[in-house]
Amino acid sequence: KRKIIIDTDPGQDDAAAILLALASPELDILGITAVAGNVPLDWTTRNALIICELAGRADVPVYAGAHAPLKRPLVTAEHVHGKTGLDGPLLDEPVGELQDEGAVDFIIRTLLAEETGTVTVCALGPLTNLALALQKAPEIAGRIAEIVLMGGGFFEGGNITPAAEFNIYVDPEAADVVFRAGVPIVMMPLDVTHKVLTTRARTEAIAALPSKATRALAEMLVFFERFDEQKYGSDGAPLHDPCVIAYLLRPELFAGRFCNVEIETASDLTRGMTVVDWWHVTDRAPNATVMREVDAEGFFTLLTERLATYS
Ligand code: BDR
Ligand code: CA
Repeated sequence: KRKIIIDTDPGQDDAAAILLALASPELDILGITAVAGNVPLDWTTRNALIICELAGRADVPVYAGAHAPLKRPLVTAEHVHGKTGLDGPLLDEPVGELQDEGAVDFIIRTLLAEETGTVTVCALGPLTNLALALQKAPEIAGRIAEIVLMGGGFFEGGNITPAAEFNIYVDPEAADVVFRAGVPIVMMPLDVTHKVLTTRARTEAIAALPSKATRALAEMLVFFERFDEQKYGSDGAPLHDPCVIAYLLRPELFAGRFCNVEIETASDLTRGMTVVDWWHVTDRAPNATVMREVDAEGFFTLLTERLATYS
């Protein structure tokens, strides 16, 4: 089994990613660390607990992380996700509790305890928790198997400004720390995630599944879709974060290139832009595998098959 830590700011698409991971026997989820992002930390921690309980997996420990980015005030995305971050279904409040230990200490302790190169970090929100862990204990960098993250966009442009994708925009300094850490990175940018749209047929296939978890997820997706459908007239919404988990399960669904990525932290205009040297026009050292293509049908087949295992 592949050991993973999921760092997340749920978020309906984060919920889909976590449910996909929890339904995948190949993955051993050591813990879920929550960060402020789509909504403030009090909501993202609650949401992480709710998702585990919906999945019947209250045994997965949830840790609270950073309230705010390293150097900037928090920017949230209620306009997409609603006030709670998981707007849509009526959800029971969680019965379980957060761990006493903080997310950053959990990440450090786990990476130091597990064998080098055996733990993958899946990052589905702003990179604040991970950056804080790398700053507090730089020795963990050499122990992380891989960071697979949803963030950035290059050819596709941005979704929160013309230049920037939300996760990187919220905490560009944290992203800069992570991209400079020397850890193998796989990046799922908007260039990929905008190709996996929750069309009506795909959402209906999820809604038709029998479990409480999948019914709740289907209602979340209906809410989540309304933003993109109203703003862009698209058929469904991009299912960003599950791309990270799908990559762990079926990497052959994705194609990209190993290249240099730098994060813009100085300019107001292009704050949080991921500058990808796709064509290798500089001699800056490659630091990330930047995905650009995805087999969307294969992705939704995988997602729906796994979600069908909930009872
Ligand atoms: C990312 O931002 C959030 O709104 C989503 O959960 C996803 O992680 C997409 O830009
Ligand atoms: Ca997210």
